[in-house]
Amino acid sequence: MLEPFVDPLPSTEPIHPISTYNGMPFYHVSMRQCRQKLHRDLPPTTIWGYNGLYPGPTFRVSRYEPIIVLWTNELPCQHILPIDTTVHGAEEDKPEVRTVVHLHGGVTPDLSDGYPEAWFTNNFEIVGPYFRTKLYEYPNQQPATTLWYHDHAMGITRLNIYAGLAGFYIIHDQEEQLLPLPKGSYDIPLLIQDRSFDSSGALFYPSQPDPPIPSINPSVVPDFFGKVNLVNGKIWPYLNVEPRRYRFRILNGANARFYRLSLSNAQPFYQVGTDQGLLPYTVKVDKLLLAPAERADIIIDFSHEAGNEIVMRNDAMSPFPQGDPPDPTSDGLVMKFRVNKPLSNLDESHIPKKLSYVPKLVPKPFYTERKLLLNTRPDSVKRNIHLLDDRFWSEPITENPSLWTTEIWSFINMTGATHPIHLHLVRFQILDRQSFDQDVYEKNGKVVTTGPKIRPETNEAGWKDTVRANPAEITRIIMVFGPYTGLYVWHCHILEHEDYEMMRPYIVIR
Ligand code: C2O
Ligand code: CU
Ligand code: CU
Repeated sequence: MLEPFVDPLPSTEPIHPISTYNGMPFYHVSMRQCRQKLHRDLPPTTIWGYNGLYPGPTFRVSRYEPIIVLWTNELPCQHILPIDTTVHGAEEDKPEVRTVVHLHGGVTPDLSDGYPEAWFTNNFEIVGPYFRTKLYEYPNQQPATTLWYHDHAMGITRLNIYAGLAGFYIIHDQEEQLLPLPKGSYDIPLLIQDRSFDSSGALFYPSQPDPPIPSINPSVVPDFFGKVNLVNGKIWPYLNVEPRRYRFRILNGANARFYRLSLSNAQPFYQVGTDQGLLPYTVKVDKLLLAPAERADIIIDFSHEAGNEIVMRNDAMSPFPQGDPPDPTSDGLVMKFRVNKPLSNLDESHIPKKLSYVPKLVPKPFYTERKLLLNTRPDSVKRNIHLLDDRFWSEPITENPSLWTTEIWSFINMTGATHPIHLHLVRFQILDRQSFDQDVYEKNGKVVTTGPKIRPETNEAGWKDTVRANPAEITRIIMVFGPYTGLYVWHCHILEHEDYEMMRPYIVIR
């Protein structure tokens, strides 16, 4: 019932260092509960924000310039969303409000990576079993790209992120700066998320699945899709633009929703980057599919659109790919561009054909190939537990690559949904996807392929950190483990899956 396109798109707040620490820029970010207007006609909504902001402030750092961040929790001791205490890591003996920050896509030493059990409470009064440091070090040795930071606390990540704990972390470098891409105020990050609200304007997150579980209240849900879409913390905003090219860094920050984005005038997006940086070549895309946590660096050319209004729409099914289509008047809407500003100066940007050199990782027969099942099992009350290779979080570590070795991980998806699989620490390339017969696998555990190996989409042909593993397909990725040893995690980025066992520790050994 809310009217779309009545609020301007908020530009995310920049953050600056407050001092230096061992010669490195030093930042402090505190998580706080605040109230924020998310739509013209909604009363202020209670959110959790980094520095009290939803989305959190945007870091813009330079490659090769490490920084230090002190993350503190100044949140109240009661959660604003329903916690299921039967979920591993969120039991009744744990503090309700626990936080730990992870820089998604960051190549970060393990102590600073935000291990899910390295959580801490308000003022570090209580800390989790893996807690070792208050100061996080981000080396920023990786190529320019759009990263994001978000909460990762064991068993309640879906609730902490839903409450607002997410923000951008953008790395710039010379290679990217030398390309003739739109810059400065024409380079805009867009965080897309879905949310629902109750009549008082409070964030709504279900406390029961459908059908409900009377014996467990609140209970986890298999996934959650909000009724409306927000961009940078506003519901269906608009952006007034000049008739020129703009660069948008699009992040799907939703809990479970996939977005397939298109423009109402059938104009294409020109994609220049993926999760981990520049693509080898610019790719023209009419429909941009993004699973939770995936990013796309794109250019929209408004130069021939003066006077026009262009709506960014979403037509991805929820759950993806076999669920329901969105309602074109609510979750099918994302935002609107109004090309109503005069051209303030000549647009000197171009859409380059060639962008960067991406060396191909080639599969070799002697590389370790791990075959990893994506599957579900019912729990004692018949809720679906999503698992990685049929194992729970607390089982012994099974993925233990050695430093600087190349491995191929192939995800065999026995479920009915696409899972965005994410590995911390490493960037990878997608080798291929191949369909297989789920019924045969169900019967005798044999993988019988039913089609050819399909190369990734052209706009997936760069470095990735999150990959869509589709149902009844084997998805193969290849990566080199490094530059750090230590304890990390890999998981499905549908947050309801991640919290309910679709996450596993892994270790890089010397
Ligand atoms: Cu976006 Cu484990 O993270
Ligand atoms: Cu991550
Ligand atoms: Cu999943």
